[in-house]
Amino acid sequence: MVSGDGAAGLPPIAALRRDFIWGVSTSAFQIEGATHEDGRGLSIWDMRCQRGEISNRDTADIACDHYHRYPEDIALMQQLGLQAYRFSVAWPRVLPQGRGAANEAGLAFYDRLIDALLAAGIEPWLCLYHWDLPQALEDLGGWTARDCAGWFADYAALVASRYGDRVKRFATFNEPSIFTLFGYGFGGAAEGAAGMDKMHRAIHHVNLAHGAAVDAVRHHAPGSSIGAIHNYQACLPSTPADTQAAAICDAYWNRVFPDPQCLGSYPPLLQAAMEPYIQPGDLERIKRPVDWFGLNHYGPKYVGTDANSLLGFGFGANPPELPLTPIGWPIDANSFRDVLLTVAKTYALPIYVLENGLGGFDKPDETGAIVDDNRIDYLRSYIGALNAAVAAGADIRGYFVWSLLDNFEWDSGLGVRFGLTYIDYPTLKRTPKSSFHWYKNVIETARKIRP
Ligand code: FCB
Repeated sequence: MVSGDGAAGLPPIAALRRDFIWGVSTSAFQIEGATHEDGRGLSIWDMRCQRGEISNRDTADIACDHYHRYPEDIALMQQLGLQAYRFSVAWPRVLPQGRGAANEAGLAFYDRLIDALLAAGIEPWLCLYHWDLPQALEDLGGWTARDCAGWFADYAALVASRYGDRVKRFATFNEPSIFTLFGYGFGGAAEGAAGMDKMHRAIHHVNLAHGAAVDAVRHHAPGSSIGAIHNYQACLPSTPADTQAAAICDAYWNRVFPDPQCLGSYPPLLQAAMEPYIQPGDLERIKRPVDWFGLNHYGPKYVGTDANSLLGFGFGANPPELPLTPIGWPIDANSFRDVLLTVAKTYALPIYVLENGLGGFDKPDETGAIVDDNRIDYLRSYIGALNAAVAAGADIRGYFVWSLLDNFEWDSGLGVRFGLTYIDYPTLKRTPKSSFHWYKNVIETARKIRP
């Protein structure tokens, strides 16, 4: 147990384990840039950018230029005193066509990154899929094709056998419910046209891909610690009439991946919808033993009935008294505590919080400093809520801020900033924000109290 309560401006951390892991998270497409370099293939998100579908017509062609500037970024991580860094491998960088011939130059980039992290004393946490499906596979149906599970397992085997001597933490998917729901349910995202049949197919195939990848990683990187990363947020009715809509949203948003992966069945509300896609043995293929539950959380969702949405629900009005982040996401640390307790009880796995943070429109002041007190307040209250969940019995073993750097925030492009570090996109100069110094202090204090 560590105790940091009362330290000026720091969150309570008294209940945390002494080996609690402090980290930050990023993803390949959002930071790497170099999208046309060293033989990288195209992903569905490159295509979405090329079609001009991103706010301000931004692209991720340069993003943070992490592909070239990773040593500088690792120096920032060292400055923070991090124990762990979560990143993702870009599937089209290592397998430009998604399958078949591997791209040695792409594989070598992650060798350099991993070696430099280890030399800096930072544990690499490798996520296999953060939404950047190779376009060549999308052309074959992408996640709507059952074969995609096998393509993913082959990719997982390649990555695990290449890096498994140095990487011990592997995640299969980041937020599968977000890319399947937005890709096929709400429509208009990178995965192509919407449709309930496509969405249910994709959900089931991603679940199969997860199970197959767990087996592949266990085989090729024996002794590694494996999990998946799920977004999990309270889905609450906007009005009493929206109770059913909120329950359906909860089943898709929170449960349609962790339930079959960890409990071996689809949520009762969705069983009939999923039934047509399940072949004999599939649920056993999906529920492979994992070591932890990766949880991403930002704030609760208020759900409204929407007859015009394929899904029958949409996002409704937030309660007027609820504070919002600059990009309009509700702030409710108590809801985070409750989610942590629910996840701990439902899935009975150790939890790592692998994303949490605040999105805004940060700008340097006249002195060049980026004063993001709103982000500090947010992080303080959420880390405090995590501490409260641990005190109430949840087994939580780490916390990773989203994100190390401002980066390409999907449809919002480069305009929305989640970083502890400010990126001046024209020059790519990195400037730690106030929250960076604050988080460094949290980590230092936690480690000083119980080294
Ligand atoms: C999550 C994504 C991550 C980032 C944050 C703000 O849903 O996993 O890539 O965009 O939201």
